[in-house]
Amino acid sequence: MSVQFIENKNLFILSCAKLSCAFYVDANKRLVHLHFGGKVLGEEGLVPQEIRKGHSSFSPWADGEKPEDSADALPLEFSGFNTGDFRINSATVLTENGSAATDALYVSHHIYKGKKRLAGLPSAFAGDHDSVETLEITMRDTACELEFILSYSVFEECNTIVRSVKAVNNTASPLVIRRLMSAQLDLPHTGFDFVQLSGSWSRERHPERTPLHSGIQSIRSVRGASGHQNSPAIALAAHDATEYSGDVYGAVLAYSGNFLIEAECEQYGTARLCAGINPENFSWMLAPGESFETPEVYLTYSGEGLGGMSRNLHDFMRSHLIRDGWADRKRPLLVNSWEAAYFDFDSVKLLGIAESAAKLGIEMLVLDDGWFGARNDDTTSLGDWFVNTDKIGDLGELVKKINALGVKFGLWFEPEMISEKSKLYQEHPEWVLHEPGRRRSIGRQQMLLDMSRPDVVQYLFETISNILHSANIEYVKWDMNRNLTEVYSDMLPPERQGEVAHRFMLGVYRLHEMLLKEFPGLLIEGCSGGGGRFDAGMLGYVPQIWCSDDTDAMERILIQLGTSYFYPVSTIGAHVSVCPNHITGRSTPFATRGNIALSGTFGYELDLTKLTEEDQALVRKQVADYHRYHHIIAGGDLYRLSDSFKVNPFDAWMYVSKDRKEALVTAVCRFCQPNSGVRFVRPRGLDPETVYEVDGMQVSGATLMSVGFQAKLEPGDGASRIYYLKAL
Ligand code: DGJ
Repeated sequence: MSVQFIENKNLFILSCAKLSCAFYVDANKRLVHLHFGGKVLGEEGLVPQEIRKGHSSFSPWADGEKPEDSADALPLEFSGFNTGDFRINSATVLTENGSAATDALYVSHHIYKGKKRLAGLPSAFAGDHDSVETLEITMRDTACELEFILSYSVFEECNTIVRSVKAVNNTASPLVIRRLMSAQLDLPHTGFDFVQLSGSWSRERHPERTPLHSGIQSIRSVRGASGHQNSPAIALAAHDATEYSGDVYGAVLAYSGNFLIEAECEQYGTARLCAGINPENFSWMLAPGESFETPEVYLTYSGEGLGGMSRNLHDFMRSHLIRDGWADRKRPLLVNSWEAAYFDFDSVKLLGIAESAAKLGIEMLVLDDGWFGARNDDTTSLGDWFVNTDKIGDLGELVKKINALGVKFGLWFEPEMISEKSKLYQEHPEWVLHEPGRRRSIGRQQMLLDMSRPDVVQYLFETISNILHSANIEYVKWDMNRNLTEVYSDMLPPERQGEVAHRFMLGVYRLHEMLLKEFPGLLIEGCSGGGGRFDAGMLGYVPQIWCSDDTDAMERILIQLGTSYFYPVSTIGAHVSVCPNHITGRSTPFATRGNIALSGTFGYELDLTKLTEEDQALVRKQVADYHRYHHIIAGGDLYRLSDSFKVNPFDAWMYVSKDRKEALVTAVCRFCQPNSGVRFVRPRGLDPETVYEVDGMQVSGATLMSVGFQAKLEPGDGASRIYYLKAL
């Protein structure tokens, strides 16, 4: 049983293999947090923290309660607003009289096997044979019939608890939600580092680690997308936690729009974490009888450092978030036309690339931007999702010819966008996200469609479906190349404009759902100018996301390892591209570009017809490596072996198959330094008792993990090798 209720103590204990969470209902019906972290055995010793004693009158208590009951001093599972808890909170809801006071107490609970999906939002799932249990706790506001249902689904084997909140308006008047966070987590001290993935376009998800300090530390987005700048996931790592040891708490928000994750060190020496939709300019009108569900947060804990946290989350997302078995299914090994041709292609050129692909064992050609409307550069045609026959002829015929070569076909779309120079804009200027009377912001010559409008979503579904029905298209790359501005919808009254950004996201998710229902086997790769929307929300629909427009292998080390802190390697879109690299101008050996792209979905992003004989031989080897090692990389356990928080001269990481019979180590010398010592790699996660064959040696797992082995790299910047370890 992973959810226990101990009635005589009003105590809830949620148990995973290596994680426990406990809270209880106190005499005043507050849901008091007791523990989230390492595994507990039995109910004894789960006692409230003593911080509730000795605080001052500046932490008020409710009329009729005792000073030590102050909501400001209690560790709580859920906090309201303007009723005594001054910390960052779970919910602020406005009632008809203008009051924002919100304060909810326990009413009842319900435990059931399995887990419900959220309506219209990405959500985790439990299979019929999974040992998942869900606890739903109903809380009611102390002044009105507003209810909050807190949901906790316990994924025992993955050490992950899925949380979300539903607000239900059982009053007779409309209410306005100003803030409703998906989860609140109180931790008993502040000795943590805040670990985040931050960066910019082409420099996404570099890990950063900063000690928590008094006040609030946060990451957020108001871009209408999760953004390149901060991924909606954080870890709180004990100061002494390393990659391999120590307490680490992970929180991943399954949402792709405006988000907020914040941690507050408060006056009594505790830390509170809140994660959810960003309340900035958010409001949601809840009519009587209506409900509102937040996105989910995936909370995990590991005593085995950041690496343990990542492995929990990888297991969880692979088994319970990524749909239709895609997580460990081999993806078609593809070549994408973008860096190969940009907008400059025709059917002859595409067939040439497909022919080369067929000879080299590459399984799919993806036609990127530029195939539709009158698009030959980035100034026109977004929204005109019909084939530019002048450029590529009949799409169905082209795809047939490509398929006849034994090559599959994929196609690029940017559904949420509209160009001013487009037929769609001429017909529907009102479909653009805009604020009446205010000038528009342009990004990459394009504007946004108002995805909060059902008619826009329906138009996109019909036009995209027409194309997908017209040819054998087995993959779609869904791009999004700018962020939201002038977020205002003609369809909604003034008092509902705070809903538009979230409704935009709901429209995006809805379109995904409609397309996947119509085309169940379709593989969609997410993208937003590279990794501008790499988040667990998108992963609920797409099993892979183009990780960055920066395809420079050396840059990719930090980007991909950074991404791996929270997201499985099998979701990371990674390709071999041409050198000098189009973004950085750097040249890296072809073999290394392959070795690094293998730590992702693997594919090519270059003109295959222009490869030298030598590079073609390398492509053949890389293709073979992909097939040989895919199951270890996509399905195994990841161990980062070097310090992934900085640019190192030498980096290494590895994967161990779940049965620990195989492993793969990647070692890269980013920049060569003379007399820099022997490069030892110390593997992790092996079976100590097993003897492994590696690089012609036969060594026990114990020795390998204690002594390591020497990485024999050629001299030169960017030299690399992959080492295969096989149990004898
Ligand atoms: C941005 C993407 O990240 C690229 O891979 C490519 O698809 C371009 N957009 C096309 O405009």
